Amino acid sequence: MSNERPLDAPCDCDDASQTPNSRAPADVARRRFLQSAAAAAALGAAPHLRAQNAPGAQTPAPAPAPAQPVRLDINGREYVLHIEPRVTLLDALRDYAGLTGTKKGCDRGQCGACTVLVEGRRINSCLTLAVMHEGERITTVEGLAGAAALSPVQRAFIERDAFQCGFCTPGQLCSATACLSEFRTGAASAATPDVRTRPAQLSDAEIRERMSGNLCRCGAYVNIVAAVRDAHAASA
Ligand code: FES
Ligand code: FES
Repeated sequence: MSNERPLDAPCDCDDASQTPNSRAPADVARRRFLQSAAAAAALGAAPHLRAQNAPGAQTPAPAPAPAQPVRLDINGREYVLHIEPRVTLLDALRDYAGLTGTKKGCDRGQCGACTVLVEGRRINSCLTLAVMHEGERITTVEGLAGAAALSPVQRAFIERDAFQCGFCTPGQLCSATACLSEFRTGAASAATPDVRTRPAQLSDAEIRERMSGNLCRCGAYVNIVAAVRDAHAASA
């Protein structure tokens, strides 16, 4: 049976026999409107509440959630970090795990200096929370090299002198490592002429597009592209 009430029927919103779930949507909407109007009127009548809500007024910050143990697999080693849930992966790496190779540039997803690999995929660690990555394999610049040798990407960056101050380099190295594996698995980029087919070769245009999330304030782009090209050739 329909629970809709004719528009001209008397209001039954105070009928105690009606549960909130059995009330018609129009009644619920009207009740919410009346509650909001009453709240607004109360606010207008209370100067201290008005002052609290005035533009620029300081509202007390919510209390932070307590620190909790978070298990992270970083570079093949387990770290148990006691951190608040709001801590970013970048801050967890640098300030709690002591892995300062990963750099903080903008802290807002614009520069790529904080790039790390999670399950082999590159992400900006400043844009994600550490607690979201429990049980995942995290690789930072400290974990790119093997036990006895640098990775092909690291070697190519050195041979091509693909840095000046080096601040962006950890992010560039992680990004280039993932960029090459993305290309090998056939992932297209915005520079791929036909995204339905596997890109034929890793052209400089492909490298520039795929590495475009990593900024270099020193402008070492020409050598960075050359290094990625060399690393690709060495691992082909
Ligand atoms: S520090 Fe994360 S993108 Fe800039
Ligand atoms: S080498 Fe200095 S920012 Fe890239």
